[in-house]
Amino acid sequence: MTNQNNDLRASVAASLSAAEMDIYEYLPYILQDLWEMGISPQVVVELIERHRLLDSCSKAADLGCGKGAAAIGIARQLGCKVIGIDGMPEFIQTAKAKSLEYGVSELCSFSCGDVRERIGGLKDFDLAVWGSVGSIFGSAEKTLNALAGCLKPQGFLIYDDGYIPEDRNIISPLYLKRSELVQTMASAGFKILEEHNFSAEHLKNAENGMQSLIIRRCQELIEQYPDKADLFRQYISAQAEEWREMQDEIVCVTFLLQRVQ
Ligand SMILES: C[S@@+](CC[C@H](N)C(=O)[O-])C[C@H]1O[C@@H](n2cnc3c(N)ncnc32)[C@H](O)[C@@H]1O
Repeated sequence: MTNQNNDLRASVAASLSAAEMDIYEYLPYILQDLWEMGISPQVVVELIERHRLLDSCSKAADLGCGKGAAAIGIARQLGCKVIGIDGMPEFIQTAKAKSLEYGVSELCSFSCGDVRERIGGLKDFDLAVWGSVGSIFGSAEKTLNALAGCLKPQGFLIYDDGYIPEDRNIISPLYLKRSELVQTMASAGFKILEEHNFSAEHLKNAENGMQSLIIRRCQELIEQYPDKADLFRQYISAQAEEWREMQDEIVCVTFLLQRVQ
């Protein structure tokens, strides 16, 4: 395993709330029942349609696309070309299979790679989607600057992340306060066209659906590999902690941004 591969695996694991690298090889099994793993494809398509962002000649890129749920939603609904890049080979296999299942394989091009390396070669997209990938570039500022570079002037970015409400005194290595995030977006040359905040009830329902599927797969692994039981229990706890943070500490949000510089 090269250092480069290790670095990508660490980035993928961190984006999927894995504290231990030993869990990496089990992630495709644990997450096999989830197609959507972060951003809501429904919200993405609604934003695109409401603001008439794309037509069949447009080009979109879903970066850190996971199993391609948002990219395939865009291709199905808007009939435009979409590329999807993700660092987990098994997710890309699923994305390709799903694009065939939904009859949009001609429109979708999925490939495995490190977005941090590939982004420099991506130019002139009408839309980029950044769905719950986090700050894999090191900070929101670096992430937004990198994403701006792959868009046309006036191009759009759907950016799904979270922020700390202004009135909360929370220090987080992952999240900025809303005012800081908005300022960072402006400095990277974006204006906000719309902000979709997810309610506590929506998040609770999503947690109930997703967490039970993850727990069931982890329990199967605990039975199969009893010596690694702690590893799988830790993963269940890490996921539960992330849902708690999303419901109690931060605001989960999908922004529609437009590049203005
Ligand atoms: C929480 S998931 C979200 C997936 C998808 N965007 C969605 O919303 O369903 C984060 C994704 O980022 C991918 N990822 C993390 N770091 C990456 C990197 N450096 N290059 C490519 N993909 C990466 C992971 O493999 C994972 O699929």
